[in-house]
Amino acid sequence: MRAIAYQQTGPAEAVLRLIDVPLPEPGPGEVRVRLSCSGVNPSDVKTRGGVRSRELPFPRIIPHSDGAGVIDAVGPGVEASRVGERVWVWNAAWQRPDGTAAEAVVLPQQQAVRLPENVPDEVGACLGIPALTAWHAVHCNGGVAGKTVLIAGGAGSVGQYALQMARLAGAATVITTVSNAEKAAVARDLGADVVLNYREDPVRERVEAVTGGRGVDRIIEVELSGNAQLDFAVIRQDGELVVYGSDAGQVSVPFFPAIVKNVSLQFFIVYNLTPLDRRRAVSALTRLLEAGVLKHRVAERRPLERTAEAHRLVEEGGVIGNVVVDVG
Ligand SMILES: NC(=O)c1ccc[n+]([C@@H]2O[C@H](COP(=O)([O-])OP(=O)(O)OC[C@H]3O[C@@H](n4cnc5c(N)ncnc54)[C@H](OP(=O)(O)O)[C@@H]3O)[C@@H](O)[C@H]2O)c1
Repeated sequence: MRAIAYQQTGPAEAVLRLIDVPLPEPGPGEVRVRLSCSGVNPSDVKTRGGVRSRELPFPRIIPHSDGAGVIDAVGPGVEASRVGERVWVWNAAWQRPDGTAAEAVVLPQQQAVRLPENVPDEVGACLGIPALTAWHAVHCNGGVAGKTVLIAGGAGSVGQYALQMARLAGAATVITTVSNAEKAAVARDLGADVVLNYREDPVRERVEAVTGGRGVDRIIEVELSGNAQLDFAVIRQDGELVVYGSDAGQVSVPFFPAIVKNVSLQFFIVYNLTPLDRRRAVSALTRLLEAGVLKHRVAERRPLERTAEAHRLVEEGGVIGNVVVDVG
């Protein structure tokens, strides 16, 4: 089968290669998914670029954790009736050498989730990281019903789902930040009550005005290193700062407002959700997909042989929505 792989970290064009590898066979408890689409996330790009580590955990890596396709073979212990099922997959490249930038992937069967009929494959390929991250950020620790929520970067891949899910979960007020008018329009369309341009607006003052000086109950943070000062200024007493991203590896936090306000700081990475949190997120997401209440935005698509371009699009950060590689 055809696959994209790398054997060293570095720039996408320099290290990503189209290769031919044997079709993998599913072992006990596993399924094989014939992939049609592979989702590209910042995490895949950072790992390939050597941002976290220049050392590779495996001699050869087929990237990408998210994807969608059809189960075409099952291993011992898996119901034969799963053959033919349309699925989306999660964590395909997390601590594994073989991700979804290939014509097929073999995974433990729970990592291949039934894709509702009304959801196209390209959307299914963007659920594992963006949608599950958003769902957990909104619903962890009792959720956001009746709360005022600030979602940093509401036009991002995770941010767009977080906006919609906060709305659907009964948040009282959803505030978000963006960097330009196009992103502001996207955020408004997804249900944000208040959209602020963090490069131009006095965000702190505006949030204080919107909340009557009380502050926000929960912040869902995409860039802690850039927003820490703001976050601890606008969070309310006993508020929760839920962090899923930070550009810098070291973050300085203003200690005094944090401790006086009894702020809870929650970090999480979607790859490491507990099995219970994973089941909750996956089943809730399935219900939302079946109900057709989520809007999805696949912004760019590239064929498998142009995966390097897809990586560059994600790296450059100019795309509003998801980047998908068409495998089939
Ligand atoms: N913890 C996890 O499990 C997890 C899961 C998914 C993603 N992540 C991480 O989260 C980050 C975002 O992922 P993504 O897929 O959503 O990427 P994305 O689609 O590129 O979205 C990122 C968004 O954040 C905005 N942004 C950047 N700096 C900002 C700031 N200081 N304040 C407000 N908004 C800001 C960007 O817009 P502008 O540049 O226009 O401001 C962009 O809209 C990445 O670092 C990724 O690695 C972590």
